Amino acid sequence: MDSVTRLGVVGCGLMGSGIAEVAARQGLDVRVAEATPDALETGRRRITASFDRGVQRGKLSEVERDQALARLSFTHDLADLADRQFVIEAVAENRGIKTDVIQGLDKALEDPAAILATNTSSIPIVDLAVATERPGKVIGMHFFNPVPVQGLVELIPAITTSQETVQRTRDLAARLGKQPIQAPDRSGFVVNALLVPYLLSAVRMVESGGARPEDIDQGMELGCAHPMGPLRLLDLIGLETAQAVAESMYEEFKEPLYAPPALLRRMVAAGHLGRKSGRGFYIYD
Ligand code: 3HC
Repeated sequence: MDSVTRLGVVGCGLMGSGIAEVAARQGLDVRVAEATPDALETGRRRITASFDRGVQRGKLSEVERDQALARLSFTHDLADLADRQFVIEAVAENRGIKTDVIQGLDKALEDPAAILATNTSSIPIVDLAVATERPGKVIGMHFFNPVPVQGLVELIPAITTSQETVQRTRDLAARLGKQPIQAPDRSGFVVNALLVPYLLSAVRMVESGGARPEDIDQGMELGCAHPMGPLRLLDLIGLETAQAVAESMYEEFKEPLYAPPALLRRMVAAGHLGRKSGRGFYIYD
């Protein structure tokens, strides 16, 4: 089986743009699909700005940036991904939207051997796999934010996923410079199953008036050497994403530990989504 050279990425938000950036830097021909012209333009600008920052920090030359940008193409139409050997969907963490995208890709891809990976944080992979005509070729590939920095990718085979799909995905992860770990197809996989209860506990601590966000964050940063405390991290992840992940985990296990606290829901309802909206537990410029 040929190694992957033509990659598709669906969704150009925080995760999709990071995946596209990393893949283009590693020499892959990357086509990015987004639903609306505005979202596409925002994603394109985010990728270009990240490459420019890389040049300013001396991580890549102007020539390397221009070569990477030339490997990226953009479209509004999933049909334009027809020739891709491997597609990673990174659309919003919403079961209905992800199912529609996976089904659209299943129809669009010409090669029946092409692999469909989902960057879901919490939706069971098997549910997405059985929505397609190629359940053996569907796998979870969960990246971490910011994608260009975090070294991990979780590989999550569904019970329908073939060994060959797992191996090809492992090879692609290595090509992208990421260290894969294999995770079980249960909501939250490995990392979010541990991380989300911790993040929600920090929200509950604020909610109950137990401690201020700055004190909680400093506690974990200086006391436990975490690069950022739980509330700063929630602001980075996006509060609506964290809520969606917690809801999926709660739906699966009915564990009170996973239930999104009222404060998180209220902040999401108010549009206080974290860095992306300029306000979350902190205010951003
Ligand atoms: N793109 C590319 N590079 C970036 C970047 C980005 N978006 N953000 C930061 N960097 C690079 C900087 O260029 C810098 O590189 P250098 O040291 O080689 O010059 C390095 O990362 C450190 O950045 P900064 O000095 O600006 O800032 P910090 O030292 O505070 O690091 C951070 C920022 C990398 C975000 C760090 O705080 C961190 O790792 N935080 C934890 C992030 C984390 O836990 N992510 C996982 C979230 S969970 C998830 O994604 C799963 C989902 O399902 C919920």
